[in-house]
Amino acid sequence: MKSPNEELTEEKRAEIEKHENSLIVGYQKVQIAHGTHILSWHPLITHKISMMRDLNVNCTEFGCLVEEVATLICCEAMQKLEMEDYIVETPICTTVGRRIAGKKLVIVPILRAGLGMAGAVKRVVPKSRVAHLGMYRNEETKEPVWYFKKHPSDMEERAAFILDPMLATGGSADAAIQYMKDIGCKSITVMCIIAAPQGVDRIQKNHPDVEIYAGCLDKGLNEDGYIVPGLGDAGDRLFGTK
Ligand code: PRP
Ligand code: URA
Repeated sequence: MKSPNEELTEEKRAEIEKHENSLIVGYQKVQIAHGTHILSWHPLITHKISMMRDLNVNCTEFGCLVEEVATLICCEAMQKLEMEDYIVETPICTTVGRRIAGKKLVIVPILRAGLGMAGAVKRVVPKSRVAHLGMYRNEETKEPVWYFKKHPSDMEERAAFILDPMLATGGSADAAIQYMKDIGCKSITVMCIIAAPQGVDRIQKNHPDVEIYAGCLDKGLNEDGYIVPGLGDAGDRLFGTK
């Protein structure tokens, strides 16, 4: 396919589009709900996601890009956090500062690939706690299989930010949201890097109270349930497995 130095002519663009469309099964359009935010309008996010898609990016570079994009998405996803005033002494005078107040936070990486985003988000909100949810997709059914759960005890007091780079069928995020609700979470947000229409549709239908912040919305899924054009298997690319 196209190399970075090859000129992107209209013919080439049409050829790429045709090839992508030929890979998609069960293509569906999705109505983007009020609580779903697709952040591809942001040049930095789109630039870095395009870099991540490149199969020649090694796992170290890929990990850095995941962290950078996670930080940028985090800025948007946390824009509604409650704030309060407090007194700050600057070297010049006393002033009124603003700080995050209200609910405590819990960041919830879905293992494994969500771990790639967790470090970046934890750096931005260092006092947040971390809940780990371990699941992998069954290759046949594409539904998640649980293998690990560990979370703070006071989940009903915390706003949860579920982290997973890929929202494909939405099965993993759906299961993670349901589990968060079952253990008492009242405020849940999903942060992902690439979303497929199927995943967005499933979360919007099953959890209309949950907001989604996605770096971009891709075209669909291929017959193996991978996002097209996507970036392949995020966990494998992060951890150098496969
Ligand atoms: C990937 C990805 C998501 C899930 C998305 O995980 O990180 O968790 O697939 O697909 P879905 O929306 O169809 O559920 P995977 O099962 O490959 O596990 P891994 O992170 O350990 O590689
Ligand atoms: N999981 C991934 O890591 N990538 C996809 O494209 C779909 C599911």
